[in-house]
Amino acid sequence: MARHVVRLNTESPPPPRRVSGKFEPPLVLEHTALKRATISHLGSPSKALIDVADKLTGISQYPVLDAGCGFGRNAAALASRGLSVVCVDQNLGRLHTLVRLASSHIAEFQQPIPKVGQLYPLLANLKQSQWPFAQKCFGAIICVHFLDIGLLDAFRASLVTGGHLYIETFGGHGGNYLELPKIGQLRDLLLPHFQLSIYRERKVGPTDYRAVSVRLFGTKT
Ligand SMILES: C[S@@+](CC[C@H](N)C(=O)[O-])C[C@H]1O[C@@H](n2cnc3c(N)ncnc32)[C@H](O)[C@@H]1O
Repeated sequence: MARHVVRLNTESPPPPRRVSGKFEPPLVLEHTALKRATISHLGSPSKALIDVADKLTGISQYPVLDAGCGFGRNAAALASRGLSVVCVDQNLGRLHTLVRLASSHIAEFQQPIPKVGQLYPLLANLKQSQWPFAQKCFGAIICVHFLDIGLLDAFRASLVTGGHLYIETFGGHGGNYLELPKIGQLRDLLLPHFQLSIYRERKVGPTDYRAVSVRLFGTKT
């Protein structure tokens, strides 16, 4: 189990690696063109996340964790705002796309960005039983369109006190509601440990099913 633990030195986070035992070559990105890459190729970041992004920069000496980052549209947007982001996904192809597309724009970039964060892609299947991060190593955790309620305790443990948690579930299209939380479920699980300055639920799915899509922003107390 010990070999799965990645201890983040917050001044110099470790290179990305596969945490299932076999390490991948480092995919560290030196970004100078993240904003353009984000918009033109990686997809537009979550608008609601961008609305709270300034609050994430308050403790920017710690990296942000983007859990289930996908192609990295949100991670790249945060990096363009000066935050370093550990981008975790279980899909190596998506991480490679993030690396490839962001890098291809570096040469095209015209205006230097004064302060740009770095992205640290990490291939991992995030599970409660094999959580790969140390305690209190992230200043924020974002989780957009990916939610495993079983990871909430691990999120809390890996956030520094005063660190932020942003969760935005997917909507209720088709049978999605079956995987969404129930009314009040996330609030009840988080309230003992987080101050929730944003908590929005929207009822989705059949009327007799208590599923909700949720967007929340909390601060670890
Ligand atoms: C719908 S995508 C959302 C991607 C990104 N957060 C965004 O907003 O664009 C969900 C992502 O979560 C990843 N994912 C699902 N389960 C995962 C797990 N247990 N560990 C790591 N990544 C996971 C998938 O590979 C996929 O890239």
